[in-house]
Amino acid sequence: MRRRPSTPCSTATASAPIPLDEAPASRDHRVAATQAFIAANLRLLPAPGIPDIRLYTAHAASRLSRLGRSADTPPYWAYNWAGGTVLARHILQNPGIVQGRRVLDLGSGSGIVAIAAAKCGAAEVTAVDVDPDAIAAIGLNATANGVAIRAVQTDLLSAEPLSVNVVLAGDVFYDAALAGTMLPFLQACREKGMEVLIGDPRRTPLPIGQLNLVAEYAVPDFGHGTGEIIGGVFGIEP
Ligand SMILES: C[S@@+](CC[C@H](N)C(=O)[O-])C[C@H]1O[C@@H](n2cnc3c(N)ncnc32)[C@H](O)[C@@H]1O
Repeated sequence: MRRRPSTPCSTATASAPIPLDEAPASRDHRVAATQAFIAANLRLLPAPGIPDIRLYTAHAASRLSRLGRSADTPPYWAYNWAGGTVLARHILQNPGIVQGRRVLDLGSGSGIVAIAAAKCGAAEVTAVDVDPDAIAAIGLNATANGVAIRAVQTDLLSAEPLSVNVVLAGDVFYDAALAGTMLPFLQACREKGMEVLIGDPRRTPLPIGQLNLVAEYAVPDFGHGTGEIIGGVFGIEP
């Protein structure tokens, strides 16, 4: 099953709180400084494959090295990933998955999946990432798309699952060690009755044998130029 882009959803807002630790003031300062950098040095462009969503995107002159990031934390939030794109497209084409529901976007990066959920009428959307610069990017990207998203810097994987209805995880199986903690967390969410959807172009660490394929779409991916690859949307059996 391959589907072409279509975005029947409109803008919605989501703001009700989920009990997570708020960022301390020093982190807020870093987020504000990063947002100023992003607004000045990245381009607000239609997301490849999902033109209804616009994202601040890095280009050759962005020189993200000026953010002073360590070499082992790539700026994933500045680029598009097939896993997030395929999941965002699936949500936009099937808004009932999130409509009126509390949604967590785990490993949110640019926020593309969270933005799709908010545009489709989710009751509240929380975007979580370990990278503080992703939190900055999600805030800017949410504003650019006219939606409200609660962006929180935290690593949930060793914590109890949050109280949400739907957990969305786009392209978070890119690393074997991360995959080893991501799968048990998502399985625990599923066991607690949450709907779990993973978007992924079958990267090597994806535990495909423990997932069920829900849909497939041809989507662009970082590093593949203007070409498309097949991305999958996967569920976890209860
Ligand atoms: C390849 S990017 C995908 C971003 C976005 N979901 C998308 O598809 O465009 C993976 C993201 O997961 C985040 N991440 C990695 N480990 C994480 C963890 N333990 N908890 C939350 N986010 C994590 C990274 O910082 C990065 O932003």
